[in-house]
Amino acid sequence: MRSLVMGALACAFLAACAQQEPAQLTGAALVERGDYLVNGVVLCGDCHTPRNADMSSDLTRQMQGADIGESGPPGVFATHAPTLAGLPANYSEEQFIAFLQTGVRPDGTQPRPPMPPYRLNEADARAVAAYIATLPQASPTQ
Ligand code: HEC
Repeated sequence: MRSLVMGALACAFLAACAQQEPAQLTGAALVERGDYLVNGVVLCGDCHTPRNADMSSDLTRQMQGADIGESGPPGVFATHAPTLAGLPANYSEEQFIAFLQTGVRPDGTQPRPPMPPYRLNEADARAVAAYIATLPQASPTQ
């Protein structure tokens, strides 16, 4: 009986720890979680990574911006997803984290569709930004 109670307590305690964990991640663990979120859940690369001739993602140019063609009315819908690798142009890491939580750029405007207006929680936004900050930027000759 005692061990049953202890087991239940341990589970409750571990569940609480698991929920809190993402907010506490730092360094390599935070980047690793961002890798999982970006490449396994929110899939930023579907639009922001250029494709090879066979339409697979060109992982040598991950998040380096891509033409995505027309997916809606011209002008209303964007046809190019800008480069994000290393951080999007003109964003500090904190501004990028805020953007991922609100969908609003630092200047108060919003990107056009099909860019989704993400509402990530702060822990996930921090992980996504930390991971994208590690990706190599395109060299000027590319
Ligand atoms: C369905 C396609 C799609 C997906 C998925 C997508 N984006 Fe975008 N994103 C775009 C397009 C297209 C634009 C350009 C919008 C414009 O020009 O108005 C854009 C714009 C942005 C911008 C704005 C840059 C600026 O100029 O201010 C940021 C930042 C961004 N995306 C980050 C991300 C991140 C991070 C993810 C994943 C969490 C993501 N995007 C997923 C298509 C996408």
